[in-house]
Amino acid sequence: MSEKLDTFQRQPLIVGNWKMSLLTEEAVKQASVLRDSLNGQTAVEVMLAPSFPSLSHVHNVVQGSGLRVVAQDMSVHESGAHTGEVAPDMLLTSGCTGVILGHSERRAQSSETDDLVGRKAVLALARGLFPIVCVGESASERESWNTSEVLERQLAGAFPSAIDDMICQQGYEFAVAYEPVWAIGSGKVATPEVAEESCLFIRKWLEERFNLKVATATRLLYGGSVKPNNSQELFQEKNIDGALVGGASLHAEMFYQIISLAPGFKKENTVK
Ligand code: PGA
Repeated sequence: MSEKLDTFQRQPLIVGNWKMSLLTEEAVKQASVLRDSLNGQTAVEVMLAPSFPSLSHVHNVVQGSGLRVVAQDMSVHESGAHTGEVAPDMLLTSGCTGVILGHSERRAQSSETDDLVGRKAVLALARGLFPIVCVGESASERESWNTSEVLERQLAGAFPSAIDDMICQQGYEFAVAYEPVWAIGSGKVATPEVAEESCLFIRKWLEERFNLKVATATRLLYGGSVKPNNSQELFQEKNIDGALVGGASLHAEMFYQIISLAPGFKKENTVK
């Protein structure tokens, strides 16, 4: 990989995945506390992923603050007879600018396949949503030394050829979150070395699959038991550009601390 990748500055990105944990009133409160604490800082990009019914409410309180609202999933269909599904345009009209795709909980609990994640990624980009594609191996896959094969398979599924033109010619952006399944919600964070190794693998894969420019510009996140006491050393790794945070994002103060540890964050600009 070229030298240039080492020197390129990517804006840190921290995403809070609230899963199915907060009622709308609680989500709105968290978002407004965070909005006030961050006080318009722009060094670190921050995205909040509330559940579907809270999206527009959270959007209303963060509008104009720089905080972005993203969804936790979306339908693979654009519209029509799909009971219980939420279309990409519905996300856009709720104020969403992005969507998490292929989270391991959706893969495990809703049988999402690599192919489905890829079709959703194509649709998300085509509709103007920023996809945050999740990949990561299970404990048994890591124990049997299959991590790179799993990542490769998931990445190949998430980026089918239908996506090439949008990414390579039109310059549409996306992020990839490396989330080892064994680290999610378990309190067992990956070591910075393990997380960096996988993120470097993903970046090299993106370079081979697309080109150096795409690999250089794409932000890679680590996710899985990120807390204020382990985030700084993760953020120091060259290929980790931020975090996808679950449990710790449910506490505004803890989430703020994680954001404030990202490179470039300026505390003096914030009110507490
Ligand atoms: P966690 O969740 O931070 O609670 O481990 C991360 C995620 O599921 O994205």
